[in-house]
Amino acid sequence: MKTVTVVGLGYVGLPLACLCAEKGYKVYGLDVDKDKIDLINKSISPIEDELIAKKLKNIKMHATANPTDCIPNSDVVIVCVPTPVDKNNAPDLTALMESVSAISKFIKQNTLLVIESTIYPGTVEEIVVPILKKQKFDAYKNDVFVAHCPERIDPGNRKWAIENLPRVVGGITKEASKKAAEFYRSIIEADVVELSSVKAAEATKIMENTFRDVNIAFVNEMAKSFDKAGIDIIEVIKGASTKPFAFMPHYPGAGVGGHCIPIDPYYLIEKAKQIGFNHQFLSLAREINNSMPHYAIELLENELKKIKKSIKSAKVGVLGLAYKANVDDARESPAFGIINALKTKGADVFVFDPHVKKGSNVKDLDELLNKSDYLILATDHNEFKNIDLAKLKKQKILIVIDGRNCLDKEKIKAMGILYHGIGRG
Ligand SMILES: NC(=O)c1ccc[n+]([C@@H]2O[C@H](COP(=O)([O-])OP(=O)(O)OC[C@H]3O[C@@H](n4cnc5c(N)ncnc54)[C@H](O)[C@@H]3O)[C@@H](O)[C@H]2O)c1
Repeated sequence: MKTVTVVGLGYVGLPLACLCAEKGYKVYGLDVDKDKIDLINKSISPIEDELIAKKLKNIKMHATANPTDCIPNSDVVIVCVPTPVDKNNAPDLTALMESVSAISKFIKQNTLLVIESTIYPGTVEEIVVPILKKQKFDAYKNDVFVAHCPERIDPGNRKWAIENLPRVVGGITKEASKKAAEFYRSIIEADVVELSSVKAAEATKIMENTFRDVNIAFVNEMAKSFDKAGIDIIEVIKGASTKPFAFMPHYPGAGVGGHCIPIDPYYLIEKAKQIGFNHQFLSLAREINNSMPHYAIELLENELKKIKKSIKSAKVGVLGLAYKANVDDARESPAFGIINALKTKGADVFVFDPHVKKGSNVKDLDELLNKSDYLILATDHNEFKNIDLAKLKKQKILIVIDGRNCLDKEKIKAMGILYHGIGRG
């Protein structure tokens, strides 16, 4: 039986480790978070995901913080550590460098080392390969087979999961690419496409996520424009979607969050800068998407003016902290931008997220409605989408800013409550 170590047991690494175990590999998980390790070794999922929670009960894996427990025995090592940006939006590769450095000290000859973390084109050759070289492993000579296989997982998506998502791989050498492709073919039920280089694989992932960021920015800009023109963008997107080719619907919202879309474009923007290219379009997309939490507040202020109220001391309830529906991940969530801006403007802010209890300052939705006069919906969790609208009236809510365009606009308006979605005229 071959042995796999997954390094970094988060939203990417943990599902991967479970899948490898299901496919018959002996699996270790290496992480620096001791609490996470303890939970996993008790078969408890540290992330809110029913499927993973169930899988953990049925598989065997051993989590550890000690590389010597697992790296020397591994045939395959897969790195899934975070790749955030720093306060200047420059790539922060600390976790990648530290993890590869720890691995390089104990890895054995001929091991397959795959980086799954999202990285800018050139990272594997400029950062990972030199770290291995320090330990006398020459990746170009296949001392260690080094490849990149970007992860496409979309937490919470039940249709496209790790098992059925096609993958691309690129190796430092042809042999590394082939070995990586063989490994992924042994665990997933979808195409594994071998690209000619690591750089091409690195760039593929960045392009996919940048595609999403610029399209969302485009539709956010349309939303702002249509708000001025009194046009409902949701109706327009429905209309445009009837075109059977060359249109792909994207939806406006109060901002873009998560560990991928608002970060990955910066990886390319910064790398391109170093090699003499200025990504104007990508930077503008980031700027537009970053402006959306403030735009949601601008909409609230416009509605407040209509009833001659001010944002100062306004009691505003923010629904949701997670960056997207029905997940517990609040990384880079636009909800924080909304909350901070509201506080700066002197509003009294109440926050509730059923999936992110830590950041909530009321115990449930009822308490939030009770304490608030105005609402901004930041996350389209089912609990908010399916809210009993009669409660809004009962709790004397005066204004609803629907930051995810997921509530029934007509019903809310019919109750005499002021409603404004993002781009809903
Ligand atoms: N979350 C997503 O939806 C998603 C999707 C596709 C790709 N990605 C990419 O995958 C990578 C991981 O993302 P994630 O969301 O799983 O992050 P995460 O924060 O959920 O998990 C990362 C894990 O790595 C651990 N870690 C940090 N430093 C470490 C080190 N030096 N050694 C060992 N473990 C370490 C952390 O403790 C954590 O458990 C990132 O590059 C991200 O861009 C994420």
